[in-house]
Amino acid sequence: MKKVVLAYSGGLDTSVCIPLLKEHYGYDNVVAVTVDVGQPETELKEAKERGAKLCDSYREIDAKEEFVRDYIFPLIKANGNYEGYVLGTAIARPLIAKHVVEVAMEENADAVAHGCTGKGNDQLRFDAVFRTTDLDVVAPMRELSLTRAEERKYAAEHGILLKPEHRWSVDENIWSRSIEGAELEEPSFVPPEEIFQWTVSADKAPENAETLKIDFEEGAPVSINGTKMDGVSLLKKLNETGGKHGIGRTDIIEDRVLGFKSRENYEHPAATIILMAHRDLEQLVLTRNELRFKDFVDSAWSELVYQGLVMDPLYESLNAFIDKTQERVNGAVYVKLEKGIARVVGRESPNALYSATVSFDVKQEQKGAEGFSMYHGFQSRMVKNV
Ligand code: ARG
Repeated sequence: MKKVVLAYSGGLDTSVCIPLLKEHYGYDNVVAVTVDVGQPETELKEAKERGAKLCDSYREIDAKEEFVRDYIFPLIKANGNYEGYVLGTAIARPLIAKHVVEVAMEENADAVAHGCTGKGNDQLRFDAVFRTTDLDVVAPMRELSLTRAEERKYAAEHGILLKPEHRWSVDENIWSRSIEGAELEEPSFVPPEEIFQWTVSADKAPENAETLKIDFEEGAPVSINGTKMDGVSLLKKLNETGGKHGIGRTDIIEDRVLGFKSRENYEHPAATIILMAHRDLEQLVLTRNELRFKDFVDSAWSELVYQGLVMDPLYESLNAFIDKTQERVNGAVYVKLEKGIARVVGRESPNALYSATVSFDVKQEQKGAEGFSMYHGFQSRMVKNV
């Protein structure tokens, strides 16, 4: 009796994996696990129906709260950003993989499986976590390299009913929505409006701007316009409000881990607003030295997360530094949303390292700067023999 636990999204790739794991790989028992990190209800429902039908057992794990608390909040504190990408898919994969491994342990399974192909980053992120165990790792899509047409044929033969094929490959969770594939792979192809679901285009956004006050405690967002909210509700609310104003679309060329470039489209209103506000607050409360050094730390953090290497001890060390700096990142930021643009229009903090009076009002203090100024540019003058 051979048992495998599959990370299951309900889509074509992972659905085709189920009969493949039985017929091609000889597993007698396939357990499918869908981890809810905020994908649309319809997607979860479809996964549940299909998973229950095709597998020997099916489990859905609600990890939304854990995702926001243990993955998204650290990302915000680290100003997570890889080449302009807010790391939505990247940060979710290790959590999904962790839950799949946990189920595999409980179920006494022999193997874990995922439906990633051999082209992208996701295979690396799943594998990295899967391989922290001695379970066998199976990746049918990567190993068998089926074409899309072969997959569809195989699905039809196995009673996997598919809706007419979506042209785009979409990955969605509470932090971001990624849209790739088909014509979008051509970097000069201008994305049609239909690929966007969370955001309106700027010209359809309301004429009236809206200003939000976002409060942070130790670097994490805790309330909007004075109303305290749990993380999941706060992100949902900002996605809704930001999306309505056309905030948070990204179209980039991205360097994948394997080395080749890909064209990516994302939407992420809450991420845009929060990351902008958070960075602004840091600018108010952290010292210049902290800010400069933290830029390096943040970029190392983002690189690790993009690669799915959150089990590298460096990840924990970087988080330790980041958490220490965030003790003072308390206060509020005002963000104005207007026709596709989010802009910080004010900020305040009990830990501000700025004071309008101290910085500009003390006339006497100016004289003290004379000595400092005398040596400013000293080396440049020497070079020019002045
Ligand atoms: N390029 C992004 C990343 O590597 C998004 C990938 C989206 N994945 C997908 N299966 N559609 O994280």
